[in-house]
Amino acid sequence: MRRTLIAGNWKMNGSLAANSALLAELKAGMAGQSCDVLVCAPAVYLAQCAESLAGSGISWGAQDVSMHAAGAYTGEISATMLNDFACKYVILGHSERRAYHHESNELVAQKTLRALAAGILPIVCVGETLEQRELGQTEAVVSAQLQAVLNVLDDAALAKIVVAYEPVWAIGTGKTATPQMAQDVHAVLRAQLAVRSDEVAQKVQILYGGSMKPENARELLAMVDIDGGLIGGAALKSVDFLAIINAV
Ligand code: G3P
Repeated sequence: MRRTLIAGNWKMNGSLAANSALLAELKAGMAGQSCDVLVCAPAVYLAQCAESLAGSGISWGAQDVSMHAAGAYTGEISATMLNDFACKYVILGHSERRAYHHESNELVAQKTLRALAAGILPIVCVGETLEQRELGQTEAVVSAQLQAVLNVLDDAALAKIVVAYEPVWAIGTGKTATPQMAQDVHAVLRAQLAVRSDEVAQKVQILYGGSMKPENARELLAMVDIDGGLIGGAALKSVDFLAIINAV
């Protein structure tokens, strides 16, 4: 049975003061949750997260990692640097990085290898644009994004990844995919994993992201192949993030 993971992606938001308040409110609201909870903060705040969340039951992680081990890569952050802050997860291939930083499927696969080599669990994001959906390309797009990662991992490594389906047209728009629309794509991804191994396919958590809110979380999380959420805007408000956690 797969555990449910509710992950917050803070994106480029926060401050030491705001984070301190948000983290305190999240810790205060944690009581008997039946899911795993994660916050992915900007890298400059990982020390604050590690200090604040240690022993809280809430995990913390990063939003990207370099494909390189170390060296002359100005501005990049290595997986071993993330280990210095005890990051448990790292978001990879978010649609905003694919769009703004031209991250290819192959680059995301190399970053996935790098994270796993450092013992950090990758959350590999896939998702189509509105234009691709309207052209009937959704399955081809998300399958190609996942296949690039499948191509570089063995079964043991593959069992450690998390996949996040984030339809680009639902991110930050309030236009959430219907539970059935999301389930349909999650089922495609699960079937693709099953081609490699049924055992692996049953282990890998597939999260939904894209305007998941307190009012729609329960219905989305009830779908058989939706194993949690990757939350943007609602993760920045403790009352909303806790409401989603408690919807599990
Ligand atoms: O990574 C999660 C994010 O892309 C979803 O954002 O604001 O639609 O929940 P939001």
